[in-house]
Amino acid sequence: MTRDLRLGVNIDHVATVRNARGSAYPDPVRAAKLAEEAGADGITAHLREDRRHIGDQDIERLVAELSVPLNFEMAATDEMQAIALRHKPHAVCIVPEKRQEVTTEGGLEVAKQENRLAHFIAPLADAGCRVSIFIAADRAQIEAANRIGAAVVELHTGAYCDLHAEGEFEARDAELERLRDMAAFAHSLGLEVHAGHGLTYDTVGPVAAFPEVRELNIGHFLIGEAIFRGLPDSIREMRRLMDAARA
Ligand code: PXP
Repeated sequence: MTRDLRLGVNIDHVATVRNARGSAYPDPVRAAKLAEEAGADGITAHLREDRRHIGDQDIERLVAELSVPLNFEMAATDEMQAIALRHKPHAVCIVPEKRQEVTTEGGLEVAKQENRLAHFIAPLADAGCRVSIFIAADRAQIEAANRIGAAVVELHTGAYCDLHAEGEFEARDAELERLRDMAAFAHSLGLEVHAGHGLTYDTVGPVAAFPEVRELNIGHFLIGEAIFRGLPDSIREMRRLMDAARA
C-alpha cells in the first residue's frame, strides 16, 4: 500500500547499543524487520564514515533481507558513492557529516557546492536511486537542491524539536512556520518533501500535518522508547499520531 504519509524508521541506534560492547546484539536488521511488521513503510540507515553505528555488513544484510524500501543515508564522498552504486538502494539521502558531531547537526550546504553535488548525484539517479538532500528549511538551499536535480528534499526538523524541548515556544512556533512555508515552497518546485531529525511523540503532529510532506524519518526517539514499550508498540503509536495529525 502506498501511504499518503510514509514513516521511515531509522535503526542506527540499535547498532549504537550493539557497538557499545562490540557484541553481535542487538541486531539492527532484526529491528528493521520488526519495524516492518509494525508498519514502517521504509527503513533508514546512515553509514557514517567512522562506522560508529551501522556497518558495511548491516547495509549488505538490509539490502538482501528487507521487504520495504531502504533509505541509505550517506555523506557525499567517493567511498559512499561506490557503496551506494554497488547496492542501488531505493533511496539515497545525502547528509552533511562531521567526525566530531554527536549527530547530523545541520542541513547540507548545497548552494555553495552545486556543481560538485550535481556531478555527485547524477550517477546515483542514473542507477535508479531516488536522491534526497537533507537541508535546513531555507529557500536558497531548496532552490539549489532543485537545480542540481534532486528528486527529494528532507527538511531538518532538529531546530524545531530542540526549541520545543527547551520550552522556547515562541521560537519553536516560528521555526515550525518556516518549515511549513518551505515544505510548500519545495513542493511548488516539484520536489518531493520529507522531514526528520529529533521528532518525538510531542513534536511529530504539527509536521505530519503539513500536506506537502510525504515521509517522516524517525529513529533515536523510537529506539529509546522501545526500552519501555517495545519497538513494535513504539512504532504503532508514532504511526497513530501521524495519522491523527493528518486526518
Ligand atoms: N533524517 C536524517 C536525514 C537523519 O540524518 C536522521 C538522523 O540520522 C534522521 C532523519 C532521524 O533522526 P532521529 O534519529 O533524531 O529521529
